[in-house]
Amino acid sequence: MRQPLIAGNWKMNGSRASAEALMRAVVGGVSGGGCSGKAAEVALCVPFVFLDLGERILADTPVRLGAQNVCSEPSGAYTGEIAAAMLKEFGCRYVICGHSERRDYYSETDALIAKKMVRVIEAGMRPILCVGETLEQREQGLTQTVVASQIDAVIAANGIQSFAQIEIAYEPVWAIGTGRTATPEQAQEVHSFIRARIANHDALIADKIRILYGGSMKAGNAAQLLAMPDIDGGLVGGASLVAGEFLAIWQAG
Ligand code: G3P
Repeated sequence: MRQPLIAGNWKMNGSRASAEALMRAVVGGVSGGGCSGKAAEVALCVPFVFLDLGERILADTPVRLGAQNVCSEPSGAYTGEIAAAMLKEFGCRYVICGHSERRDYYSETDALIAKKMVRVIEAGMRPILCVGETLEQREQGLTQTVVASQIDAVIAANGIQSFAQIEIAYEPVWAIGTGRTATPEQAQEVHSFIRARIANHDALIADKIRILYGGSMKAGNAAQLLAMPDIDGGLVGGASLVAGEFLAIWQAG
């Protein structure tokens, strides 16, 4: 049985004041509010500049801290970059790697993403590897080809044993920020494909790995998505910026 993980990806949003308020609201909702004891794990992946707040507010609570990116190098002359060891110092448990927005806007390659994942694991944290196809690729029937390529590249670079220390997020690009959520059946089909792909290398790792869904997950559709056998949680963007909406998704987990 895989414990669900509901992770909020705040992306580049918020202020110190709003970040503190949102963190405290999520902690309050998870720790008390009649919904304690829920099965799902919860994490907030916040902008780097809010990690200090996160360390102080989330410490000793059930809410985990995460980051949205990391340098592929361990340390050194990389102006503007953030090292995995630095994220660990702030108490991060998760680091999003290979989000489609970074693949698209910042030309991150499978090879670079694999290197980033190694840095995260070396520092004692868990990468959340994002994979997913564009609408054009889906319409061309290339969904499985694209996702397989993204998964296979990390297996080739880091080895299948590294998958025991990661989470995967299937995020169809066409569902991100659009309000056009994949149907539970569409998502389940790809999640099942991903798990089978990993099982070809190691059945135990495939059975244990959590595969999250991301792409317009909302309070109104979370339960149906999370009811699917191979959907083990969510990577939530817009809805994670509203405490009540995010907590409702967590409760559905
Ligand atoms: O990483 C999660 C994010 O890409 C999903 O965004 O706003 O569609 O929930 P959103």
